[in-house]
Amino acid sequence: MKHYYSDHFTIGENGHICMDGVDLVTVAQDFGTPAYVMSESQIRENCRAFTEAMKRNFGERYKVAYASKALCAKFMYPILASEGVHADVVSGGELYTALQAGFNPKHLHFHGNNKTYKELVMAVDCGIGSVIIDAFEEVDLLETICASKGVHQRVLFRVKPGVHADTHEFISTGQNDSKFGFGIEDGEAMRLAKYILQHEHLDFAGIHCHIGSQVFSVDGFARAAKIMFDFFCKMEQELNITMDEMIIGGGFGIRYMPEDEPGTFGEKLDAMGKVMREESARLGREIPEIVIEPGRSMVGAAGCTLYTVGSVRDIKDARSYVSVDGGLPDNPRFALYQAKYDAVVANRADAPRDKLQTIAGRCCESGDLVARDLTFQTAKAGDILCVFATGAYNYSMASNYNRVPRAPIVLISDGKAREVVRRETYEDLVRNDLI
Ligand code: LLP
Repeated sequence: MKHYYSDHFTIGENGHICMDGVDLVTVAQDFGTPAYVMSESQIRENCRAFTEAMKRNFGERYKVAYASKALCAKFMYPILASEGVHADVVSGGELYTALQAGFNPKHLHFHGNNKTYKELVMAVDCGIGSVIIDAFEEVDLLETICASKGVHQRVLFRVKPGVHADTHEFISTGQNDSKFGFGIEDGEAMRLAKYILQHEHLDFAGIHCHIGSQVFSVDGFARAAKIMFDFFCKMEQELNITMDEMIIGGGFGIRYMPEDEPGTFGEKLDAMGKVMREESARLGREIPEIVIEPGRSMVGAAGCTLYTVGSVRDIKDARSYVSVDGGLPDNPRFALYQAKYDAVVANRADAPRDKLQTIAGRCCESGDLVARDLTFQTAKAGDILCVFATGAYNYSMASNYNRVPRAPIVLISDGKAREVVRRETYEDLVRNDLI
């Protein structure tokens, strides 16, 4: 039986929830809980759908670059490489992971509003595709590094398009009051461009923007595309240069709850494509190579988390708390953003959703919830819970709070489950303790 969440989830005849035909209750038994489970076929499908939508709008001049921050672990990179997808990184650690996985450094670009000297050296040394500059100081730093090594580095820089995305304040980034990027209106972006051009070892290739994350409406994307394209042309004219690339970020929202209507990334890319074709005709400049950086929309819905229920506490005239063996350490998104998640009892997924319950994590922290006030099958100790759409910003934001070892990632490929990131051990936890 199909499950509403996506084609990758079904309910087996035994009432168990399955991912790509694999019984997730068995996965919980085999690999323990909590565990992240990812669908390789869903990740690949997403790579292909993005590629198709980009091709449809921008012909052969496009790149899909996965935003590593959504989920960074070695297993991701061979999948991306085989789908022709590039990636961005935002730290030495993400860069190291991609390189360790054998990813082509030319297919990487490096973001961050405060990259360190060491990280920039690492990026230049590996021959990274481009660095997206986000500070005047970074220009000096990068020039010094490149000059000392006698190499050139391809660079873009981050622009603030002044668009306010309709999303949580903490994940909205394109507006003027943001620590990211340089403003167009106040002339800062032009000033940075001129500054970059004064540096001999930096090859200036284009501009970047990202308006925010988990954005549903088409409008912000279309507005950003117009502003970026116009500014791109203005820069070329005023500075008498030719650039070849424009990165328009990620941010495509996904469904977390049944009632969410995120729309499709296809419709957002079509809207951006349309605006750019119009501006291209109006301004007489062909559309440069367009790059997108989807993170959440690439992996979010491809993942779920399995927990074991330890206890249930029905509090009179208050909530019913279902406590699980994970929570804040594997998913801090409720604590940070009051994020919502849907869940089922994995071993009775065919039973009616009959009780309002709150899924509580195991940490000594009242804000450690996974889902508040969710109606799903009445849970009892020993049940396995499956929480949907945890593929993005869960493993990558995990911590060892309360000295809880990090959960493993189990990858479902071709009807088989295997651990691709192992569960942390107690020895891992004390590895860095020196005395
Ligand atoms: N490109 C840049 C420059 C970004 O800063 C981001 C996300 C992305 C691409 C990917 O955005 P996505 O397609 O995943 O929406 N921890 C937060 C999300 C932070 C996103 C930060 N930047 C969360 O859990 O919701």
